[in-house]
Formats: sequence, C-alpha cells, structure tokens
Amino acid sequence: MTIKENLTNIISKFDKDGVMKNYAKVIPYFKKYWFRTLLALGLAIPIGSLDAVIALSLKPYMDIVMVDKTVQSPWYIPILIVAFTSTQGLLNYLSTYMNAWVGGKVTNDLKKTLYNKLMHKDATFFDTKTSGDIMRWFNNDANTACNSLLNNLKTGISRVFSSFSLVCVLLYNSWQLAIIAIVVLICAVIPLTKMRALIKSITDKSESAGGRIITAYNEAFAGNKVVTAYNLYEHQSKLFDKDLENVFHLGMKITQKTGWLSPMMHIMVSVGIAAVIGLGSYMIVKGVITSGNFVSFITALIMLYTPIKLLGNNAKNMQNALLALERIVKQLDAIPAIRDKENAKKLTGLYDSIEFKNVKFEYKKNKPVLKDVSFTVKKGETFALVGNSGGGKSTIVNLIPRFYDIKSGSILIDGVDVRDLSLESLRNNISVVFQDNFLFSGTIRDNIMLGNLNATEAQLKEAIKDSYLEDFINSLEKGLDTNIGERGVLLSGGQKQRIGIARAFLKDAPILILDEATSALDNEAEKIVQQAIENLMKDRTVFVIAHRLTTVQNADRIAVIKNGELVEIGNHKELINITDGIYKHLYESQFAKVEAAV
Ligand SMILES: Nc1ncnc2c1ncn2[C@@H]1O[C@H](COP(=O)(O)OP(=O)(O)O)[C@@H](O)[C@H]1O
Ligand SMILES: [Mg+2]
Repeated sequence: MTIKENLTNIISKFDKDGVMKNYAKVIPYFKKYWFRTLLALGLAIPIGSLDAVIALSLKPYMDIVMVDKTVQSPWYIPILIVAFTSTQGLLNYLSTYMNAWVGGKVTNDLKKTLYNKLMHKDATFFDTKTSGDIMRWFNNDANTACNSLLNNLKTGISRVFSSFSLVCVLLYNSWQLAIIAIVVLICAVIPLTKMRALIKSITDKSESAGGRIITAYNEAFAGNKVVTAYNLYEHQSKLFDKDLENVFHLGMKITQKTGWLSPMMHIMVSVGIAAVIGLGSYMIVKGVITSGNFVSFITALIMLYTPIKLLGNNAKNMQNALLALERIVKQLDAIPAIRDKENAKKLTGLYDSIEFKNVKFEYKKNKPVLKDVSFTVKKGETFALVGNSGGGKSTIVNLIPRFYDIKSGSILIDGVDVRDLSLESLRNNISVVFQDNFLFSGTIRDNIMLGNLNATEAQLKEAIKDSYLEDFINSLEKGLDTNIGERGVLLSGGQKQRIGIARAFLKDAPILILDEATSALDNEAEKIVQQAIENLMKDRTVFVIAHRLTTVQNADRIAVIKNGELVEIGNHKELINITDGIYKHLYESQFAKVEAAV
C-alpha cells in the first residue's frame, strides 16, 4: 500500500460521514486563488491570537497599579491595548475583504461548472425534477457551500487561535484554576458534536419543502393564465399555505432540537466561572496567586466564553454548508446516463437510411412504452407517424437524437448505432420543431440565430423569407431586434412557431423531426406555418407527426402506431385500402373532420 492509500484509509476511518472527502472535492476550486485563500485564512491566526493580549496585560496592570499602588504607573499599557486592537481591526478588515473576494470567485466558478452539468443532464432528470429543486441545488447550495464554508473556516480558525491563546493566559495565571475551567468548557462543547446527526434528516426535508415554495412562485408566473382562467387563486393559495406551514414546522423542529444547546452551554460555563471565583478567592487569600493573576484569569475566561459560545452558532452554519456541499458534490459527481462512448464516431451527414430494429423502450421500469418497433426510412423520404394520443409517436422520434436511450434493439443511422455516435455530431445533424418551441428572452434575431450562431446576414435573411416571417418582422418598429419578452409572450403562436422554423432553416440539418408542429395553432396561423414547414422539408429526411391530412397524405410512407406498436405501414393509398384498417378508420374519423374544419 502506498503512503497516499494509507493516509486515505486513516482519514476515512475518522471521517465516517465523508465530510473530508466532500471538502477534497472543492479544494481544486480554491487552488486557482491559493495565495489569496491562504492570506484570508492565515490572517485569522493573528486576529484570534491577539485576543489574549488584553487579558494578559491586565495582570501587571492590576498588580502594579491597583495593589502595589506604585507611583510609576505603567503608561505603556493603555497605549499597547489600543495599538493591539487597531492592528487586530486592520487585519480583520483585510481578512474580511480577502474572504469575500475568494468566496465570490469560487462560488462563481462552482456555479459555472454546475450550470454546465445542469445543461448536460438527460431528459429523465428534467422529467423528474422541479424548477425549485434546480434553483436550490445549482444556485442556492453553491452560495451556501462556498461563502459560508470560507467564512466558517476563517472564523473557525480565528476562534480556535483565540481560544488557544486565552487558554495559555489561563495556564500562565494558575494551572489549577485553568484545569477546572477547561474541563467545564470541554463538557459544554461536547453536545455540539452531535449537532449534525440531530438535524441532518430534518434539514434534508426542509430543503425539499423550500424547493416546493420556489416551484410555487415559478408556477404562479408560468401558469398565470390558467390560474386566472380557472379562478384558481384560492386553490393555489391553499397549496402554497400548506408548503409554508410545512417549512415552518420543519424549521421549528430544528430549533427545538438545537435551540437548547446555547443556553445549556451558558449554564455550564457559568458553573465553571462560579467554581473558579470560589476557588480563586481562596487561592488569593492563601497567596498562591496574585490578584493580578486572578483578574487576568477571569478576563481570559470570560473572553474565552465568546469564541466558544459562537462556535455553537457557527457549528450550525457549518453543518448547513456541509450538507449543501454534499448535495453539490453529488451533482458534480453525477455522470449523465446518456453520454459519448469512449471512441464515439462522428456523424457527418445522412447518406443512406435510418433504421429502427426491434426497439423496445420504457420511461419507468416494467412499463413498456415501445414494444418491438422496426422500420427503415430511406434518405430523402418523408415518414409520417400517426395514431392515437399516447401511442408512442413522440417517444419514437425523441429516441433518434437520443433524448432517451432505448432498452433493447438498436437505432441505426447509415448502419451505425446512435449510441456509438458522438452526441454533438448526432444532434448537429437533426433539427427538431416541437409543438411548443421554447423561445429565450432576447430579440427575434437572437432566437433565430440559435440555429447557427455563425450564420451570415444573408443566410439569416433567407431563413426569414423561407419561414414567411418577412412581413411580420418588417411591420415591427425595431424589426429583427425586437425584444420578444420572456418565453416569447409578446408573440402569437404562429409567429413563435415560424421563429422555431427559421431556427431549423439556419441549422440546415439533413434530418428533420416535426412533432405536431402545427397542432397548437388556429386554421389561419396553421396555413402559413404549414407552408413554411413545407419549405423546410425540401431535400431532407423527415419524420413528421401531424394531424393534418395533406401532410400525412403526401408522405412517402405512413406508420400507424398503437399502444407502442407499429401496426400498419405503407403509403396513403395502400393503407386506405386495408379493410377495417386502423389508418382507414383514423382517416375517416379524425382527418376528415380536421379537413372539414379547414
Ligand atoms: N417523459 C415521460 N415520462 C414518463 N412517461 C412518458 C413520458 N413521455 C411520455 N410518456 C408516456 O409514454 C406514452 C407515449 O407517449 P408519447 O410518445 O408522448 O405519445 P404520443 O406522442 O403518441 O401521443 C404515454 O403513455 C405517455 O404517458
Ligand atoms: Mg406526442
């Protein structure tokens, strides 16, 4: 075994909760700023140690001035006290400044890493987590962990050195009294070490309850139309009240379990002081110590109480920081299930076909959503997927860019399994237009350019023309540079959809997925969006899920999906001629109706 392994073993024996291991994970973040970090923490040593000076200086002062009543008063003592405290103050300022600087930098670095981790999470993560969870883990925890970690380390170091130097003063004045005082203080501190176990389960709960509250705010924002339309004010308020109550109760439970620690310590320490005063008076009378010793001792003891008592408050903050750190490390360590293989191949385009081979898939264990789906789509084909809602159409197309990985079977692009391709190259070759294309806050230009950040002005113009956005953009005072508001709330559904399409034009990927791209639109908007989509479909291999007959009818082939199975496949003519066929039935009941409406 190497020295390092030995050391790791020893550390892990003492570190059952993995606290040190978690610390080790964030140390690299501090390394970049090692000098300032050391300065911030190092300054805490003299700051703490200087506490002893005042207590120590009282002994000669008492003995010479108060007891001996010497004419020659030690004039230097008051000056020294002021000088020392000024030095301490200056050092304190420097240390606070460095702390804030390093803490801020490290928190930002950590947030950058976490934000990247967040964006690389797979779809399942976002399916199962709330926006509140994400705010908490990726933003709030980083604040808590870094800033309070550093602050606690700094104050911790300063308090340890303060305590140490004050204990030296105690010992210097009287070792007998010092032993009593130290024993009492140690007894008072012991309960603090149990703090972590006391509150861990509750803090976890109260964290997630706090997350629900953030989610409630987000939903009040994002869901405001539904709340208004259905008069859900009272209902939503009640749910919110419940969450608030829950957080309150959990908070009270923490206070219940930890609130007694501070007063308890207070009582214990006062017992110690009482014992010292009693015994001290006796010792002065007997001439074992001078009254200067005694005053200096009591001062040191009272001063010692402050850092130790504050360690109590400190310990709680530290626990919170450590718990936050634990959650952060969990996120930092998380490896996305969907990631590149070691020797991932690069997809450079589509040359022949896309094949689904006995694909089985489930979102939740043992709840199969796709049951043995097989088909091949040739390059340049338009492949339509139809079937009842919930049948698995969206699921099928979401598997191509690997939003999810399949359970068994394979999806092959030109004979290569999508899992053997690099995610970046795979997704570079696929454009997706969803029913609801997310628009980011910013301008129309920003949003379209997301399709290809390097597009030229000419390419941008062409994309706008092909997606029939020209007239709309020209009608705007600020044109392309019009701000669209958060999530594009200032645009109509059709306009939003055409921006999504323009994005896909700029991306110019050979494979195109259209998942109910026009379903949310009224007839008028649908027509123009449909025309834009037809432009987009030219010369591409297209997977289209649509409710409009013309789109489906003109497809080269149509697959009918029912309960996760491909039940019919062929072109419109072939399928419509199957007696009692599902497509025929769908066509007659559903598409005809939509067509009639148009
Ligand atoms: N993210 C998800 N997590 C769990 N189940 C899902 C998810 N998305 C869809 N499902 C389920 O998978 C089935 C197929 O859904 P989907 O592919 O969206 O159907 P379609 O697009 O044909 O309407 C449905 O039963 C649906 O409830
Ligand atoms: Mg769908």
